[in-house]
Amino acid sequence: MLLRPATADDVPALLDIHNDAVRRLAAIWTDKQETLAERQAWFHGRTGAGLPVIVAVDTAGTILGYGSYGPFRAKEGYRLTMEHSVYVTDAAQGQGVGKALLQRLIDEAKASGVHVLVGAIDAENATSIALHARLGFETTGRLPQVGFKFGRWLDLVLMTLILDAAPAPAAGTAV
Ligand SMILES: CC(C)(COP(=O)(O)OP(=O)(O)OC[C@H]1O[C@@H](n2cnc3c(N)ncnc32)[C@H](O)[C@@H]1OP(=O)(O)O)[C@@H](O)C(=O)NCCC(=O)NCCS
Repeated sequence: MLLRPATADDVPALLDIHNDAVRRLAAIWTDKQETLAERQAWFHGRTGAGLPVIVAVDTAGTILGYGSYGPFRAKEGYRLTMEHSVYVTDAAQGQGVGKALLQRLIDEAKASGVHVLVGAIDAENATSIALHARLGFETTGRLPQVGFKFGRWLDLVLMTLILDAAPAPAAGTAV
């Protein structure tokens, strides 16, 4: 398995992975499938802002999964905090792909001066919670019934990893 930055040619595969998760899983709280144009806009928005979109590929070049992060919240004072996501195709799960992708995102975030990574995870997603705990994330919040899908209320678990010991930016710079 190889990790590399995604290219525009990978976007149809990213769309398939995303829409499969929308259809089948409570990991994404929407029933709305994306179009190729929407996923292309997402991809160019992320990469154009210097944010990583990383794919895991096998030796034949087949995409096994992807990970990315983007701003956690819009206001400037949150700008050193990123929210990430990782998706692995059904066939490739349980073989270390998710762990490799999340570790790569952690490494990229550290290299970019990000201070905190946040994972916002369906509370029933034991695999994702275990993966995050494995890489040092702590469960720092649980928001009961803040979402719904498949006819059920869903709880959101927030898991965070502080990446460095940097002092907070000076007063007056959260503008
Ligand atoms: C959650 C997901 C990203 C994990 O990726 P993966 O490639 O399947 O997981 P890995 O093989 O890298 O395993 C990483 C760790 O997760 C845990 N884990 C993996 N499979 C598990 C399972 N079935 N049950 C419990 N823990 C599991 C283990 O702690 C494992 O670490 P270890 O092998 O060193 O003990 C992947 O299963 C996935 O994409 N699922 C569907 C979409 C999704 O839920 N995305 C996350 C949204 S927050």
